[in-house]
Amino acid sequence: MSQSTPVLQVIDLKKELRVGEVRVQALRGVSFSVARGEFMGVIGPSGSGKSTLLGLIGGLDTPTEGRVLIDGVDITCMSERQLTRIRNEKIGFVFQFFNLIPTLTAQENVALPMQFALRRRANPTQRAKELLTLFGLGDRLHHRPSQLSGGQQQRVAIARALANEPALLLGDEPTGNLDSESSAVVMQALREVRERMGTTVILVTHSMDIAAQLDRVVTLVDGQVVSDGDPRLQAEQAFLKGKRATQNLPSIRG
Ligand SMILES: Nc1ncnc2c1ncn2[C@@H]1O[C@H](COP(=O)(O)OP(=O)(O)OP(=O)(O)O)[C@@H](O)[C@H]1O
Ligand SMILES: [Mg+2]
Repeated sequence: MSQSTPVLQVIDLKKELRVGEVRVQALRGVSFSVARGEFMGVIGPSGSGKSTLLGLIGGLDTPTEGRVLIDGVDITCMSERQLTRIRNEKIGFVFQFFNLIPTLTAQENVALPMQFALRRRANPTQRAKELLTLFGLGDRLHHRPSQLSGGQQQRVAIARALANEPALLLGDEPTGNLDSESSAVVMQALREVRERMGTTVILVTHSMDIAAQLDRVVTLVDGQVVSDGDPRLQAEQAFLKGKRATQNLPSIRG
């Protein structure tokens, strides 16, 4: 694989979901490509297909049509066994509700994925300690999730997601359940991940404040990409478009 191979390519992705007789076109042909180290967001109204898209990228679900390539490798035709391996080695997930194992300590939670990896590490416990220390939790190694704040739990979840050094870190509203202070701490942790490890980060978010902190934002509406680019430029374009619309108002009236 060359250095210039995109870490992720999404090609004309379609997903139809069914509930009884009702069919929903959750994704209607989504395409984009993501370079190594990008810090990217997916935004859009509720029901626009964001979680569906993230699930397909992460190999949690298979598309009706289209392809997902990770490091140039098509994951859409893989067996469940191959997918499990890709999920464990190439992809880290962070969810809104942390999903930590309640009976394990922070350190044990982070060490766990390393014990399932094909490429076994010499010392998962030591690496778990290093990762937690990186996220400011060096003094919380032996706490269980219930003994940690929401922001601390989410940092443990990020450390766990990074345990096997994935190429892609995927977050479905990772700050959706946090107050603004904890949310800022988690965003700072994610920025550090990108800077120190060069991991590509893709976040689904409802927050315009968070979207504005990202390099690139893809906007989905009704299962389709309606814009893709630098969020600051997009805000500017929306502003100019609004201004043009206002300038045009008299002629529309006339
Ligand atoms: N398991 C499912 N079975 C049937 N339809 C589903 C299923 N999951 C999602 N959908 C439908 O697919 C569409 C996209 O859902 P999705 O969860 O991807 O939206 P979303 O953008 O993540 O929304 P939100 O911002 O509310 O989380 C919606 O119309 C939803 O009703
Ligand atoms: Mg969702």
